Amino acid sequence: MMNIEGEEMRKPIRLIAAACSDMGIGKNGQLPWSLPKEFQFFMDTITAVSYDAFLKIIILCWGRICWFSCSETVFPLANCINLVLSRKLTAVPPLAHYLCKDFGSVIHLASEPPLCHIVETIWVLGGPEVYKESLEHPCCDLIYLTDIMADFDCDVFFPKFDRNVFRKQKGFPGVPDEIHEENGIKFQFQVFKKEA
Ligand SMILES: NC(=O)c1ccc[n+]([C@@H]2O[C@H](COP(=O)([O-])OP(=O)(O)OC[C@H]3O[C@@H](n4cnc5c(N)ncnc54)[C@H](OP(=O)(O)O)[C@@H]3O)[C@@H](O)[C@H]2O)c1
Repeated sequence: MMNIEGEEMRKPIRLIAAACSDMGIGKNGQLPWSLPKEFQFFMDTITAVSYDAFLKIIILCWGRICWFSCSETVFPLANCINLVLSRKLTAVPPLAHYLCKDFGSVIHLASEPPLCHIVETIWVLGGPEVYKESLEHPCCDLIYLTDIMADFDCDVFFPKFDRNVFRKQKGFPGVPDEIHEENGIKFQFQVFKKEA
C-alpha cells in the first residue's frame, strides 16, 4: 500500500512486554515486580528512532489502564506520540496526544498524512486485549518479550502466540542474550520474529 508520494504507508507493529513463568504480566493494574534494569531496557527500546534525512517518530499505543497506571514522570518521551485506546473516554487524556476507539483507527492514523511521513514504528505496550489484536495484524513483525524467570500472582496474561510463526531470535541487535538478575529475580530479554 503506497500513498500518493510513493512512501510506504504500512508501519511495522511491535509488541513489548515482560511475562513471568505462567505468562502473567500484571496484577491489580500494576506490574507485579520491580526491575529497574528491565524497565530501562523497555524505555531504551521503545524510544529508539532512526535518522535518515529526517528524524522519525514512534507511536506508543496504550490500553487505557496501562496509560493511567504509568508514572507521569516518564512522560513526555522524546520522539514519541502517545496514543490511548478506549471506547469510553471522550477526550484525550492529559499528557497523551491521541485517543483511538479501536486498533484499526491506530493503523489508519499512522498510515495517513501527516503522520505516515514521520512515523517509523507502532509500539504496542499492552494490555492483553491490544496485544492480542496487534499480534493478529499482518504488519506485526516483532515481539519483545522479557522472560521473568519466577512465579508471580497475576490477573492479566500475555496472549498465546504461535512460536512456529514468531521464532525466537539469537543475537538480535541491541538485545543482550545473557540472563540478568535484579532483586533476586532472574530475567532474560527475548525477541520473537515473524517468519515470512
Ligand atoms: N508486564 C508487562 O510487560 C505489561 C505490559 C502492559 C501491561 N501490563 C499490565 O497489564 C495490566 C493492564 O492491562 P488491562 O488489560 O488491565 O488494561 P489495558 O489493556 O491497559 O486497558 C484496558 C482498556 O483499554 C481499552 N482498550 C483496550 N484495547 C482496546 C481496543 N482494541 N479498542 C478500544 N479500547 C481498547 C479499553 O478501555 P475502556 O474501558 O475505556 O473502553 C479497555 O477497558 C496492568 O496490570 C499492567 O501493569 C504489563
